[in-house]
Amino acid sequence: MWISQLDLTQWRNHESTRVECSPGVTLLIGPNGQGKTNVVEAIRYLATLGSHRVATAAPLIRDGADSATIFATLHHGDREVSTGVTLKRHGSNDATVNGHKAKVSDIPRWVSTVMFAPEDVAIIRGEPSFRRGFMDELVLSGSPSMVGVFGDFERVVKQRNSLLKSLRSASRQADLSTLDAWTESFAQAAAAIVSDRVRYLRDITPLVATHYDNLAGGEDIAMTYLPKGYSLEDTSKEFLTQAIMDALAAVRQEELDRGMTLIGPHRDDMELTIENKPARTHASQGETWSLALALRLGMAAWIRDTRASGDPIMMLDDVFAELDASRREKLVGAIVDYEQLIITSAVEEDLPAGLEGYRLDVREGVVTPR
Ligand SMILES: Nc1ncnc2c1ncn2[C@@H]1O[C@H](COP(=O)(O)OP(=O)(O)OP(=O)(O)O)[C@@H](O)[C@H]1O
Ligand SMILES: [Mg+2]
Repeated sequence: MWISQLDLTQWRNHESTRVECSPGVTLLIGPNGQGKTNVVEAIRYLATLGSHRVATAAPLIRDGADSATIFATLHHGDREVSTGVTLKRHGSNDATVNGHKAKVSDIPRWVSTVMFAPEDVAIIRGEPSFRRGFMDELVLSGSPSMVGVFGDFERVVKQRNSLLKSLRSASRQADLSTLDAWTESFAQAAAAIVSDRVRYLRDITPLVATHYDNLAGGEDIAMTYLPKGYSLEDTSKEFLTQAIMDALAAVRQEELDRGMTLIGPHRDDMELTIENKPARTHASQGETWSLALALRLGMAAWIRDTRASGDPIMMLDDVFAELDASRREKLVGAIVDYEQLIITSAVEEDLPAGLEGYRLDVREGVVTPR
């Protein structure tokens, strides 16, 4: 898949920006803080309905504006699709597909991206939330319709937590039966997420291992899902729904005491190991980078193999600055045959020697061909 035109209106520091691209390499170049990441963040937003930098929509809308619009023309083989999303400061967001009103949650079906960013090292070294974020991106890449389940999940957790908090003060029978109802909806959404996370992690592990071998040598990479408080003997949704409900029943008193949901995908983690050693605590700086790149490369290879829309749009946000010459070349070698690469860099010198592409200059939220 590739994107031929992106229009941003009141998105971050882009008041009204048009970016025209072709298949192959597009380079966005400009000094720090000019709006390069904001462009790739917008494309990724269409694929995930989220940002890799912030949890809420407000910072994505230009300061002082009430709404922001991303509009993109995409190509899947000979098929052309135009998709748009309007984010609003107040009220619910809108979407269009080929000029017709659509559900916002339908948009990720039309757009798939894999983004490499310096923040990716946190998947290896950081808090569990970064690994959960990676797994959820993987789930959305494989099943774009899961965006609805993620939305339900977040809503149910919030409602369940506020009910648990209210039960702390007064334990009434009626409220306990409401809690049971919320617990069941929670467990169903939770099981759907966990089941996909485990399945897709298994699918990408060999691809990640091969890419790690290419980058760093040594193929012995393992990725293990770590459920907290329940077992993964069986990964069917039915089994997991029951396992999560049982685990929740066992911690009910603690949940009531603490006023929060203590079991579920929002508490789980995954473990990454290199030659049986946990990467989080044992990997060197170089190994950490190689594994972070291998995770994204594995994800991209898997999307290419499994999704009907073909290659994901590959986006590299400022990653070359972090890599030595050999890793830069290996990374380019691994991705150069993807349909479209969108690469940002503050300075030309950080780009690998010989990387040709369509160059765009980004300054103060204005994008112009060089
Ligand atoms: N909601 C917003 N409204 C207006 N401006 C914003 C908003 N959010 C971010 N910005 C501005 O966008 C600019 C940052 O853009 P971006 O992160 O795309 O920079 P960049 O070109 O990638 O820089 P770097 O090379 O440092 O990564 C900042 O100057 C920031 O103040
Ligand atoms: Mg940036």
